[in-house]
Order: sequence, then C-alpha cells, then structure tokens
Amino acid sequence: MTDVFGGDGPAISVKGLEKSYGNLRVLQCVDFEVDRGTVFALLGSNGAGKTTIVNILATLLRADAGAVSMNGFDVAEQPAKVRECFSLTGQFAAVDEILSGRENLVLIARLRHLADPGTVADRLLERFSLTDAGSRRVSEYSGGMRRRLDIAMSLIGEPSLIFLDEPTTGLDPESRLEVWDTVKRLTGSGTTVLLTTQQLEEAEQLADRIAILHQGRIIANGTLAELRALLPPARVEYVEKQPTLEEIFLALTGHDSNDSDTNDSDTIEADTSAVDATRTIGERR
Ligand SMILES: Nc1ncnc2c1ncn2[C@@H]1O[C@H](COP(=O)(O)OP(=O)(O)OP(=O)(O)O)[C@@H](O)[C@H]1O
Ligand SMILES: [Mg+2]
Repeated sequence: MTDVFGGDGPAISVKGLEKSYGNLRVLQCVDFEVDRGTVFALLGSNGAGKTTIVNILATLLRADAGAVSMNGFDVAEQPAKVRECFSLTGQFAAVDEILSGRENLVLIARLRHLADPGTVADRLLERFSLTDAGSRRVSEYSGGMRRRLDIAMSLIGEPSLIFLDEPTTGLDPESRLEVWDTVKRLTGSGTTVLLTTQQLEEAEQLADRIAILHQGRIIANGTLAELRALLPPARVEYVEKQPTLEEIFLALTGHDSNDSDTNDSDTIEADTSAVDATRTIGERR
C-alpha cells in the first residue's frame, strides 16, 4: 500500500529490543518486522511482554535498548512522527462511559480535525452494528459493544497502522467473530495490523505472520505453514468429527461459525453417528 508516509520498507521494524522493570527482565533482544498491509500476531501467555512491546511501539514506554522504527521513523528520536502513523486499541477499552457511543466517535473525529464528525460517527456506528445503541451511554454497553466501539474509534482518520492489544479477550464467541471479521476487512483495505493474543485460534484465523513471544524472546516467527513445518510431519488420522462446544453454542444461538459443518437450523437434533468413539485407522510419520 502506498500511504502518505511513503517508503518501501517495513511498516514496523524492531531490532534488539530490551526492557526491564527493576530486576525483572521482560524483553531480551526482541527482533521482528511487519510488512505493510499485513496482519502480524504476537502470541504469548500472560506476562510474556506483549503489552510492553505495544506500549514501546506506541511511544508510551521507553525501551532500555534496541532500535524500533515505524514507517521509517525512529520511535525514540521521532516520537511525534511515529504517533502520526498509528492508532492504538489498548488491552482495556478506552471509551468514555459518560458519553454515548456516537459522542465518543464525534469527539475523536473532532480531535483529528475531520471535516464532518457527525457523518464519520454515523458511518462507523453502522459498520460496527451500533446504530441502534449509538445514542445510549457507553456505561450501558456490553463488553462486546464497548470493544467494537473502541476499535471503531481507532479507525477514525484511517491510520495506516493499527495496534490491537488482545482485541477479543473477554468477548463472547459472537462478538469475537465480529471483531475477527472487522480485522479481516481492515487488511482488505491495505491497513497494517499488529495484534497481540493469547489465543492460538485467533492468530491462526487472522495473521499473515505469527511470532511467538516466550521468556522475553521471539522463539518462532513465520507464516502458519512455516510454523507447522517446525514440527514433525503430521500424523494422518481419520476421525469422526464431533462439533466443538463453540460450534454448538453458535448454532443454537443462530450464528454462523467459520466452519461450514456447523448445523445452523433452528432445531438441533442429536447426531448419534458423531458420538462414536474416535478411531485411528491409519498412521504415518
Ligand atoms: N509497570 C510495570 N512495572 C513492573 N512490572 C511490570 C509493569 N508492567 C508490566 N510488568 C511486568 O512485566 C511482565 C510483562 O507484562 P506485560 O503486561 O507486557 O505482559 P502481557 O504479555 O501483555 O500479559 P497479558 O497477556 O497478561 O496482558 C509481567 O511480568 C508484568 O508483571
Ligand atoms: Mg497484555
């Protein structure tokens, strides 16, 4: 994607990044690059250092060592330029509870000096299925609605780069699918997305590249196919697939899951064939 910041280099470049809190060494020589227009997932367990990395990229926290640049601008040397490149949806929704959803959106559109804040807000409310709730106070929103509003706010001004820190943690399966759909549509329009997650499936669904952060280091970085190739060839097993609890939940509540096997009818009848024990009838290494 060609953006106002130009250049052909990566959207994000991180080299030799280190960060400690007191004696706690959180990041030890972290390296990665994110190509423009791609989704990059930082996968790691609680406390791995994902938010620390996002905060350093977002100029909210200073690194102890290393070189970090965004669209060619150095985070430590040119923080003002860097801040023009991205928008951040932090781990905890940063919406104003007193205001309505629409007022939150109008506020950000005004802060970004956009021409017609009301129209911008209305378009985003529609896109995120929040039109009906637009005039309600955010304090009355569910967690999923807040999260959708938070992401909608980060899209105002069409930033070329978006950070999403655990965008779906705490959301129910339906809201999670909606957020995933939003992220997929973002990248269709050329936006670069860096997201952090603890959920393997989320990284699998959304990311062009996945980096695994463990004990302060990136221990693997590649496409899903490249990561799969790190393990021995898959065993070939023939199993009778049983629906997951998520598929059952989504079918019963009338939502499609990404899996086309999901029974989506109003009445769910027990499929006795699915209850047979799993059988392994072939194996190859
Ligand atoms: N301001 C701080 N002062 C001291 N220690 C901190 C601070 N912020 C984070 N830490 C510690 O640094 C480590 C990494 O925290 P961080 O929030 O980056 O992890 P995370 O991967 O985002 O975790 P989670 O999945 O729980 O959000 C943790 O051990 C945390 O306790
Ligand atoms: Mg975090």
